[in-house]
This record gives sequence, structure tokens and C-alpha cells, in this order.
Amino acid sequence: MRLRRSLMMALLGLVGAQASAQGAGDAGQAELDLGKQLFTKSAKPACALCHTLRDAQSEGAVGPVLDEIKPDADRVKRALRNGLGNMPAFPHLSEAELAALARYVSQASGGGAPAAAK
Ligand code: HEC
Repeated sequence: MRLRRSLMMALLGLVGAQASAQGAGDAGQAELDLGKQLFTKSAKPACALCHTLRDAQSEGAVGPVLDEIKPDADRVKRALRNGLGNMPAFPHLSEAELAALARYVSQASGGGAPAAAK
């Protein structure tokens, strides 16, 4: 009897932990989706035109291959705010859009810290 109850408690604990992890995951996923959409088409001009990023299936060859330089989120934001060399700045993007792009590009390229950023 006692054993059974503690087994129940353990199971409930597991289910609870999984549910809350999933809740956080959904919000994170929405941001990643927004970032990907901006990357592939809605940013003007779209990042995909100039950059190769495997996750976005883009093969732009004007700028560096993001899978290779693996920028972290801060580096992406800096490039978007200030522009860099032949890359234009993106002053019309909102903070939320900048954050979404920074997160998407850093994670998709492998430059982000996956566990913390997810
Ligand atoms: C018109 C072409 C073009 C577009 C559009 C463009 N980039 Fe770039 N990007 C470049 C070029 C060129 C560089 C290299 C600049 C240099 O190092 O002189 C670059 C560099 C970068 C870097 C590296 C920055 C660093 O610190 O080395 C990141 C990250 C980046 N771009 C992300 C993006 C994202 C995200 C978008 C879309 C919002 C985007 N780029 C749109 C051309 C572009």
C-alpha cells in the first residue's frame, strides 16, 4: 500500500515536471518560429537572400555562412542594430523581432547555448 502511494507520487511528480517544461517550450518555440519566418522572408531584405543557414534551407552567398560562424545571440543583435560591412542595419525591426532573430539564428547555427536558451 505504502509502496503504491509513493509510486503514485513519483509518477505525478514526473507528469507535473513534464507539463511545465512543455509550457516553457511552447513559448520558446513560438519565438523560434517567428525568428525563422523573419529570416526566410519577413525581414526586409530577408537574411536568407545573403546568408546560408541549413535550418532555414537558405543558400545566400553574399554574407558569411551562419552554420560556420555560429554567432551567439548578442553577435546577431549587434549586426542587426549596427549593420556590418556590406550588411545593412535593420532599424525597422522591433525589440521582439530582434530577440526572435537573435535566438533563432544562434540556436539554428549552433552558436547559442541550447539548454539555457530553450
Ligand atoms: C544584403 C545582404 C545581407 C542581408 C540581407 C543580411 N546580411 Fe548578414 N551579413 C552580410 C554580410 C556581407 C556580412 C559580413 C559583414 C562583414 O563581416 O563585413 C554579414 C554578417 C552577418 C553576421 C555576422 C556578424 C559578425 O559579427 O561577424 C550575422 C550574425 C548576420 N549577418 C546575420 C544576419 C541576419 C539575422 C539577417 C537578417 C535579419 C542578415 N544578416 C541579413 C550580408 C547580409
